[in-house]
Amino acid sequence: MTSLPGKRILITGAASGIGQEACRLAVLAGAEVVGVSRRGDRLQEFAAEIGNRFTPLSLDLELASSAEAIGECGRFDAAICNAGRGCTRMPLETDFPLLEVMMRANVLTAMNTVAGVLPPMREHGAGVLVVVGSILARAPTAPWRAAYSASKAALAALVAGWRQQLVPEGIAVKLVCPGLTATEFQSVANPTGIELPKLSAPFMTPQTAKEVAEIVLDSAYSECDEVYTRPESAEWISGVYSSLAAGVDPLKNVLLP
Ligand SMILES: NC(=O)c1ccc[n+]([C@@H]2O[C@H](COP(=O)([O-])OP(=O)(O)OC[C@H]3O[C@@H](n4cnc5c(N)ncnc54)[C@H](OP(=O)(O)O)[C@@H]3O)[C@@H](O)[C@H]2O)c1
Repeated sequence: MTSLPGKRILITGAASGIGQEACRLAVLAGAEVVGVSRRGDRLQEFAAEIGNRFTPLSLDLELASSAEAIGECGRFDAAICNAGRGCTRMPLETDFPLLEVMMRANVLTAMNTVAGVLPPMREHGAGVLVVVGSILARAPTAPWRAAYSASKAALAALVAGWRQQLVPEGIAVKLVCPGLTATEFQSVANPTGIELPKLSAPFMTPQTAKEVAEIVLDSAYSECDEVYTRPESAEWISGVYSSLAAGVDPLKNVLLP
């Protein structure tokens, strides 16, 4: 993994899953890490385990005040915008309030993080933003994640815009797209354990949070603008887009009867 001595890194969603593994790996690689989540008790437990190169910061990133609190932490070399969550509802049952909940959880949290870290990065003319999206942003194969997929697609569009504006100022902007990953994500998205339809989509074996976190951190200092955490995903996504360009929806038969 990339060595990170002397780097200051902000990582959101640090209380669990991919974010917590990214904090652990970054500290082990020599970075000073500020980890953000709402659950302060989880962050304190992790801080006690990992040592004093990790600083816990308990914030709700849906609140505008979180950007100010992040801004008060000084300049970061890189920010990993990872906080987010899913929900479980089929497209025709998805109403606008649910879409709004997902936009707040997945888009507003990233926007507030970026608003917090960006002023000192721009002043310095350097920095890296890594945004954790989802493969569902590029190919919405799981119809019960319609609102979640739409929010991650919106996030991916914003990331493309941020990149256009910020790269000329020396700030790199990366999008990392995980697929199924074994974290609390599934139980947060589906707390009552609704039985999900069967799919003919590929890659249903989960990656570990550690595998994904390592790729997320490596992406910060790689040449790639967009990274898929599974090696086979990029090729599959390129097939999806070729089919769309040829006028055929490759996802129309994804739900099995
Ligand atoms: N697991 C998957 O299959 C999968 C696949 C593709 C993409 N992803 C993406 O990967 C990212 C990390 O998810 P994960 O799988 O690691 O799930 P996770 O374990 O549930 O982690 C999500 C983290 O986000 C934090 N968070 C949520 N809302 C927040 C808010 N308003 N303010 C601050 N922190 C907030 C949570 O902490 P608190 O609750 O304490 O705030 C939690 O630490 C998410 O963006 C997710 O969409 C996951």
